[in-house]
Amino acid sequence: MKGIFEGFPEDSVSPFERLQKRGVSRRDFMKFCTAMAAVLALPETFAGKIAEAIEKAKKPSLVWLEFQDCAGNTEALLRATKPTIGEIVLDILSVDYHETIMAPAGKQAEKSLDDVVNNQKGKYIAVVEGSIPLKDNGVYCCIGGRSAIEIAKRVCGNAMATIAVGTCATYGGLPAAKPNPTGAVSVKEAVPGITLLNLPGCPVNAENITATVVHFLTFGSLPAADSLGRPLFAYGERIHDHCERRAHYDAGQFVRQWGDEGHRKGWCLYEMGCKGPETFKNCPAVKYNEGTSWPVQAGHGCIGCSQPNFWDDMSPFYRRLPKVPGFGIETTADKIGAGVAAVAAAGVAAHRIARAIQGKGKEEDK
Ligand code: SF4
Ligand code: F3S
Repeated sequence: MKGIFEGFPEDSVSPFERLQKRGVSRRDFMKFCTAMAAVLALPETFAGKIAEAIEKAKKPSLVWLEFQDCAGNTEALLRATKPTIGEIVLDILSVDYHETIMAPAGKQAEKSLDDVVNNQKGKYIAVVEGSIPLKDNGVYCCIGGRSAIEIAKRVCGNAMATIAVGTCATYGGLPAAKPNPTGAVSVKEAVPGITLLNLPGCPVNAENITATVVHFLTFGSLPAADSLGRPLFAYGERIHDHCERRAHYDAGQFVRQWGDEGHRKGWCLYEMGCKGPETFKNCPAVKYNEGTSWPVQAGHGCIGCSQPNFWDDMSPFYRRLPKVPGFGIETTADKIGAGVAAVAAAGVAAHRIARAIQGKGKEEDK
């Protein structure tokens, strides 16, 4: 961990001073650090360590590549309210290349990317959004005269670490759905062997990007990941086990038709095709738009957007899953009791994360 940021350009202004200039108060900064500790499943006491790491961090360089994408992950990161978590991340880092938000265009923009790769080899973070087409020598996605696969190999191959954001970059996503006309693949398939973390989702939750970067700044490493390269803090547990409608599932209370009495009462969406029982992600806890809501809270089932090949494997989206692992309405009362206790514990953790993200402190709980 020590020395990981050695070699980054010196900056006389600390990241926190930069945040202050953007109107972020010390209180807001500490709230942010507490929220990040919660998302990373760390004890609240780690907020101080996170704050210290951010305050001391030299501005690491970040380049954000967009290939076959809709820019939805960029939008998810930037669509926040004051003080924005997105702004905080962007101020902690030196974002030297991002097609959607950068000022330079054309050759000047491409020079910015080349400068980072040439001058900071092995010291920058690459973020990739979108899938990479391999068919016909990759002609279906070219930027500045270079194919996506050429750019990805060069930029990700020379990065300290690469973070693939969104389901297109992590699994191929919509472009890779049958019949996959461009031969779209994930970053992992396109550039094997690199240091890579996958943050799938359509789009990814901004808090999970932020928490990954904060983990990197605090501990000098990417967070622990599962066999699909997804950080365990965000993808370690099923949506179904943290869902606010889970008690209705266990009680056999299901929505049978959109707009029926069960739907109006917030019952379980399993019969309407919810894929929460087979999907691993922390949506019920971190939600979207700074903890405002998430698909199931809004009344629609999860469509499994963080799972590999979800466009093909999870559709039809409104067809009920054939078999759900775990307890169901057919189970015994004892099992339901144990299940409810486990779900209640999971709910407490999710509640802690949601309140931390919304910036609601202990004093507001009184
Ligand atoms: Fe929630 Fe869906 Fe599971 Fe029902 S099936 S409890 S709506 S995740
Ligand atoms: Fe995606 Fe399901 Fe979350 S559809 S956004 S993983 S609730």
